[in-house]
Amino acid sequence: MVKIRSKTILPLIQGGMGVGVSLSRLAGNVALNNCMGVISTAQIGFRDFSKRSQFEKNIDALKEEIKKAREISKGNGMIAINAMVAGTDYKQMITTAVESGIDAIISGAGLPLSLPEIVGDADVALAPIVSSAKALNLILRAWQKKAKRLPDFIVIEGFKAGGHLGFSKKDIATGNIQPLEDILKDCLDLLRQKELDIPVFVAGGIYDKEDIKHFMDLGASGVQMATRFIATDECDASDAFKQVFVNASKDDIDFVISPVGLDGRCINTKFTKALKERKPDIVKCTNCLIPCNYPDTPYCISQALVNAVNGDIENGLVFSGVNGYRITEIVPVKQLIEELMEDYL
Ligand SMILES: Cc1cc2nc3c(=O)[nH]c(=O)nc-3n(C[C@H](O)[C@H](O)[C@H](O)COP(=O)(O)O)c2cc1C
Repeated sequence: MVKIRSKTILPLIQGGMGVGVSLSRLAGNVALNNCMGVISTAQIGFRDFSKRSQFEKNIDALKEEIKKAREISKGNGMIAINAMVAGTDYKQMITTAVESGIDAIISGAGLPLSLPEIVGDADVALAPIVSSAKALNLILRAWQKKAKRLPDFIVIEGFKAGGHLGFSKKDIATGNIQPLEDILKDCLDLLRQKELDIPVFVAGGIYDKEDIKHFMDLGASGVQMATRFIATDECDASDAFKQVFVNASKDDIDFVISPVGLDGRCINTKFTKALKERKPDIVKCTNCLIPCNYPDTPYCISQALVNAVNGDIENGLVFSGVNGYRITEIVPVKQLIEELMEDYL
């Protein structure tokens, strides 16, 4: 078990998945089973953008999803949000989650240097997502200097993760990538040097209980897993989205360019294959990402992710970790957690 502020959970976090892949149903059920369930705030109001302004809808939808997740969890485990620094509504998503009584905030896709200042002295656990000890060091310094605060836990995300990867295009192209094991070692050394005792969770390509044991033996306090949770009954995505994983083969796992300026790992669809040839038309810009430079952006990532989660796979973008193709069936969250956490129950 891992202690995070006043709560104790099993050493498993379900990684936040936008757009709409990890909402209240998935996060609530993960928490019900005494782990940390994470709601992705990315374009969370996507279901009815047409009716009202996207900005207001995102705030209302986040409040609703947190409330529902809390009801499903029956007070077990922890409920967190994942908020991307690159989102234009980053600050509002965080203040809304704090007001709604969220247990934890996990933040990446950029360095979350201002996170503790936004949260103030609210009783919320804070965690940065980092992909190097250098980034962790920067965050520790900034948080201590600006807000006299330390992370309550840390998520290290390695190269095998799904979605946006925290590695430069050049390093990906040349293969100059530190293995997750080495990043973990460097981060643990850094924390030791600073005499800090902060739980560290590792993420990216972790698939089964042997992988979990491997990283726990190396000193991790727990793991964050996302792709495996897509293949659950309770995952908030459409059945068509889940079936993409069941049907995928190893060759289907690929990279996609992203308007965020980072590479992303995905399962190829007609849409991602076509992107290599031509730039699709952008029908409407909702100004969701800070680095997105409309109209020069390569495509509208929000629209592509919404298409996929709703089941329009041909026109959609399906993010996946490196092991997404290994999924063969959709199972209940409880069964998956019992399988993964067998040694810790
Ligand atoms: C479909 C999908 C969507 C994701 N969306 C986000 C996101 O919105 N924000 C984020 O920080 N990470 C996101 N991630 C990364 C996951 O939270 C997680 O850290 C990573 O995928 C772990 O690797 P695994 O999927 O191999 O377990 C996403 C991953 C997937 C597969």
